[in-house]
Amino acid sequence: SLPVENVQTLAAKNLKNIPSRYIRPEFESDMVSAEESLQIPVIDMSKLDHDDEQTKLHFACKDWGFFQLINHGIPYELIEQMKADAREFFHLPSEERMACAQITGHIEGYGQVFVISDEQKLDWSDMLFLFGLPVQLRDTRFWPANPPSFRATLDKYTMELHKVMIQLMKLIAKNLGMDPETLLSLFENEIQAIKMNHYPPCAEASKVLGASPHSDSSALTILLHANEVEGLQIKRNQKWVPVKPIPGAFTVNIGDVIEIMSNGEYKSVLHRAVVNGDKERLSIAAFHNQKLGTQVGPFVKTNKPLYKTIPVEEFRRWKMTSKQDGKFMIRKMEL
Ligand code: SIN
Ligand code: FE2
Repeated sequence: SLPVENVQTLAAKNLKNIPSRYIRPEFESDMVSAEESLQIPVIDMSKLDHDDEQTKLHFACKDWGFFQLINHGIPYELIEQMKADAREFFHLPSEERMACAQITGHIEGYGQVFVISDEQKLDWSDMLFLFGLPVQLRDTRFWPANPPSFRATLDKYTMELHKVMIQLMKLIAKNLGMDPETLLSLFENEIQAIKMNHYPPCAEASKVLGASPHSDSSALTILLHANEVEGLQIKRNQKWVPVKPIPGAFTVNIGDVIEIMSNGEYKSVLHRAVVNGDKERLSIAAFHNQKLGTQVGPFVKTNKPLYKTIPVEEFRRWKMTSKQDGKFMIRKMEL
């Protein structure tokens, strides 16, 4: 792929005018919803054994595709340590960060999202992308040795998120009328990818994007807002709705694979990240994907499938070799 400049280094130059490859002519800042009260649903995980909270979850997945998860049971100290370790990594001197740099042909490592053409607009962000689970998939070359606690923290973090994901999948299966055992067998040995996003402050913040509008190609994404700066926006009724993170909560969203499994009943919603003029932003996304050797396709009983059924290996090949723009994988899977 084409080499792209490190955004943190670029940001540190304090240029008055940033390179045109980052400037979005189509930027829809005027389309941000003015309705301050409009917020994604909040799901209380400690109440999910009650029918009414399960119904709320169903509505959140079907109508919003996004929700905030509170009382999830992941220890506060672990979350704070994960945030601190991520922040410390992105604040290391450049040479030390580069010890984890992406290598051509690998998706893992410290660098930028996939760039396939010289014309493509660039995101104002750097990322650290790592496979978290299964453990055999971890390539520790890309796992920071600094800060010293990073690896142990991330190890614990991936395990805790796995448990939360399984709990949610059980209820998603129930709510969609799928056999929970069949669904769980796909995710008990999930492929979990971790993407830590660092958005440096930008002198022309209102003209760039930290992440282009896209839907996630995962089954389910569990996002941690890793510092106090907001930036995630979701598309709803033609408007961009800013997410106001609740301290300690995760933001969960339905990915393309659950949209496909549900045959369109649940929607994988477009979202984007904006950046800030004087503050950096950090987020940590965990993408939960089904295990290899299985099929991606509609799972609910239907006589009118809306999507193809293909081996997960093929699905992953498509998504690894293209820029994740808009609802790219959904368009490829539509019949
Ligand atoms: C993304 O969805 O790619 C980024 C999410 C975020 O940073 O809030
Ligand atoms: Fe995303």
